[in-house]
Amino acid sequence: MNIAFIGLGIMGSRMAANLQRAGHILTVYNRTSEKSEGLKNEGATVVTSPALAAKQNTVLISMLSTPEVVLETALGPNGFLETMEKGTIWVNCSTVNPSFAKEMGMLAAKKGIRYIDAPVAGTKGPAEKGELVFLIGSEKEPLSEVQPLLDIMGKKTLHLGEIGNGSNMKMLINLLLAQSMLAFSEAMVLGEQMGLEQETLFNVLLNVPVTAPFLALVRPKLEKEDFEANFPLQWIQKDLHLATTTAYEQGVAMPSLNIAKEVFASAKQSGYGQLDFSAIYQYYKKK
Ligand SMILES: NC(=O)c1ccc[n+]([C@@H]2O[C@H](COP(=O)([O-])OP(=O)(O)OC[C@H]3O[C@@H](n4cnc5c(N)ncnc54)[C@H](OP(=O)(O)O)[C@@H]3O)[C@@H](O)[C@H]2O)c1
Repeated sequence: MNIAFIGLGIMGSRMAANLQRAGHILTVYNRTSEKSEGLKNEGATVVTSPALAAKQNTVLISMLSTPEVVLETALGPNGFLETMEKGTIWVNCSTVNPSFAKEMGMLAAKKGIRYIDAPVAGTKGPAEKGELVFLIGSEKEPLSEVQPLLDIMGKKTLHLGEIGNGSNMKMLINLLLAQSMLAFSEAMVLGEQMGLEQETLFNVLLNVPVTAPFLALVRPKLEKEDFEANFPLQWIQKDLHLATTTAYEQGVAMPSLNIAKEVFASAKQSGYGQLDFSAIYQYYKKK
């Protein structure tokens, strides 16, 4: 299949590489062109604008940072929605808020383009191994057309209903992710302050049912103080902002979510934005 892939960051570069290894023909665009080099060396066509990427491809996959960037890349100057042909499919894997996903779905539909709301669960490692989980909001028929591609990039597809429902679920997963990371970091810092060994704290806290299972995978990063980003802290803060926006739209009060959002915002302001989101532990420790 001829596929346009837009956004070759931590996640997109790995997802695109898996499609390429499986024999698909890629046209790629990334703002920072050097990130396209690896795919180019394996045969991808590198283009200089999103509009060029979309030409003559039947499926376009976007994996961009924020809703603002998705909007600019789709509808700004040289945006891809201008050149996508009627009947083609846009699979948006970027984490965006549900109302934005619905808006993109409507804009795409006006041009006869079929939109799939397709955020993912899973980070750098699963993206590399093709083990992401796709949270899908879409009609059945475009989904069945791209399912073979999702099966290359992921291990599971959850079809959750109409456009917006994939992003609905993504908001919930990431608000739990952020708040679990925050609560664990606070517990660790207090435990260490009280004189308990870090190793003892890990061994006990990671083996009681109150602790989220993913934290066991984060342990080596905290132990080695290796905060190179798998999931940049600035994007979890963005996701918390999107979740609070969604809560506002739904008329639901989310006090602890708002506190968590501000803690990550403070860490970002203190220069932690490009580090892994688990660096929030380090941020607390330094404070
Ligand atoms: N990392 C994770 O664990 C993870 C997991 C699930 C979902 N996500 C979501 O996946 C998306 C991508 O995340 P990532 O971790 O791959 O982030 P990333 O490495 O920071 O990549 C972000 C991508 O967006 C592009 N971009 C940013 N600002 C832009 C602008 N103003 N104009 C054009 N392009 C721009 C970047 O281009 P440049 O290369 O030029 O900067 C890059 O291609 C985000 O929505 C994130 O929330 C991430």
